[in-house]
Amino acid sequence: MKAILGLSAFYHDSAAALVVDGRIIAAAQEERFTRIKGDPGFPRHAVDYCLRETGLDAANIDHVVFYEKPFLKFERLLETYLAVAPAGFSSFIKAMPQWVHEKLMLPDRIRSGLDQKFAGRLIFIEHHESHAASAFFPSPFEEAAILTLDGVGEWATATLGHGRGNRITLSHEMRFPHSLGLLYSAFTYFCGFKVNSGEYKLMGLAPFGAPAFEGLILGKLMDLREDGSFRLDLSYFDFCAGLTMTSRRFERLFGGPPRRPGSPITRRECDLAASIQRVTELVMLRMAAHLHALTGSRRLCLAGGVALNCVGNGRLLRELPFEKLWIQPASGDAGGALGAALFVWHQLLENGRVPQKPDGQRASLLGPGYPAGETEALLREKGAAYRLFPGGRGLCDAVARLVAGGKVIGWMQGRMEFGPRALGARSILGDARNPEMQALINLKVKFRESFRPFAPIVLGDRAHEYFELNPDEESPYMLLVTQVRGNKLLASAADEAAAPATAAEGGRAAARDGGAAGLDRIRKIRSVVPAITHLDNSARIQTVDRDRNPKLFELLEAFAALTGCPVMINTSFNIRGEPIVCTPDDAYRCFMATHIDALVIDDFLVLKEQQVAGTAPSPEAYLGRYGND
Ligand SMILES: [Fe+2]
Repeated sequence: MKAILGLSAFYHDSAAALVVDGRIIAAAQEERFTRIKGDPGFPRHAVDYCLRETGLDAANIDHVVFYEKPFLKFERLLETYLAVAPAGFSSFIKAMPQWVHEKLMLPDRIRSGLDQKFAGRLIFIEHHESHAASAFFPSPFEEAAILTLDGVGEWATATLGHGRGNRITLSHEMRFPHSLGLLYSAFTYFCGFKVNSGEYKLMGLAPFGAPAFEGLILGKLMDLREDGSFRLDLSYFDFCAGLTMTSRRFERLFGGPPRRPGSPITRRECDLAASIQRVTELVMLRMAAHLHALTGSRRLCLAGGVALNCVGNGRLLRELPFEKLWIQPASGDAGGALGAALFVWHQLLENGRVPQKPDGQRASLLGPGYPAGETEALLREKGAAYRLFPGGRGLCDAVARLVAGGKVIGWMQGRMEFGPRALGARSILGDARNPEMQALINLKVKFRESFRPFAPIVLGDRAHEYFELNPDEESPYMLLVTQVRGNKLLASAADEAAAPATAAEGGRAAARDGGAAGLDRIRKIRSVVPAITHLDNSARIQTVDRDRNPKLFELLEAFAALTGCPVMINTSFNIRGEPIVCTPDDAYRCFMATHIDALVIDDFLVLKEQQVAGTAPSPEAYLGRYGND
């Protein structure tokens, strides 16, 4: 038996992954255990969990592999700072002591993180090799083209490659500072959202705007070539020298200073979001088209933070000659831990690989699960009123009735997801048909901006009835955006999609919305499933199949039998700024502090109305702990 532990750490989203004899056994992000969003520290808890899952000790691990090469990254930082000195001197002074200490001492830190029990050789592989390995090795393909796109690792910011059998080859790369991820993050920063976590907010904002700045971005900020590679005009940015992302010149080009976090979102931010989204899609399309021409492959694997851009992914599948697409669900740097471990097993140790169906990612349910006895003991200790459905019999019918009755459900089942999306193991569920649900869950459960759309879960075999997806296509990891079918749209929404809102309309809406740039347009009923239909009639869908998610499948079937509708809202089980819940205790606390009506933990059902008043923490106290995202 050979056990390989993959680690990513010390930047953001630290994680650990364990691969035993080529099989992915466990993977989890440190933030879920420490409850610190994006925790960058050594993933001690995640490592402990991975070892627990197999009963191994760090001394039994054969190889420990880190997801990037610290010396290459150090070289990049040093060269970058020297190139822009003295402009970059202040951030150089600030960053270097930390770097020297943390990165160059990395082997020591890893060994002490493993309590000095690991005696083997530490392996460091390149950041984009980790991403590429995470994209190809778990995929169901014997052969595929590979595209990785992110902010930056050591030097590479995008790579093109190819995988066959147990080997990947990266043949082309684009290098720092020319980076699609950093360009997107610059707009995230400029629009007042947090870099490295607010990118998906910017993506959600895009349909509210018009791509009015697309020409400026393409004309001024970058020189984009036919093959999708580009060079940025660095005078508009500050990520080489400064502590902000954008320069004064950028501000002049886009009409003033960045939006202050927390201040009202205006038409400008919506238009910037729409514009950078279009540019991102254009770069993704050109790079992937070039990759297709280079490899001739009919299958494409994607990873890197940009691969979480579901709208771009949807266009790759629809507009390019690739027939099949597989995207690593943990496409950010957390997934690098998994890719690194698989890279060692297949590429360095030269072990064969038999592609698995539907894939090797095991529904991405790679985190901890909790025994029923532990959950019951917790509920007793909390004095909770609960009901156990032995063997789960009758549970899904009961929950389906609650959902149909307008209740919001905290749904925790089995092992936790690996990756940023809740896929039905740690989810909040609601009725997608209910026009009030979108605002209700955003404001009273998540305590967040009301413009944020929700994603649907849908029975896989009925997805094509509601969404523009072929009957044989799936989206098990919620990484594709597709359109709601015309026959499910209300007539007015179908017309509107054909003629997008003008700036003047946006302005009127903004006035009505207290200057919030027409964000209340999201409340308009556009389809028979309004809570998950975005402004442009799109939806970020997750198809649910019996093999990967048997309980969730059963719930959707029960709901469909009751209502005729095989679609529900699925959003992550947390509030704004909080890591997704991990343990039954996390789930119970989040349930009690918010307006979630019912909590399901495996076969236990807890109804809010049956709990004793006054035992819950106040929402304010809970928000105070997490809600400063
Ligand atoms: Fe990355």
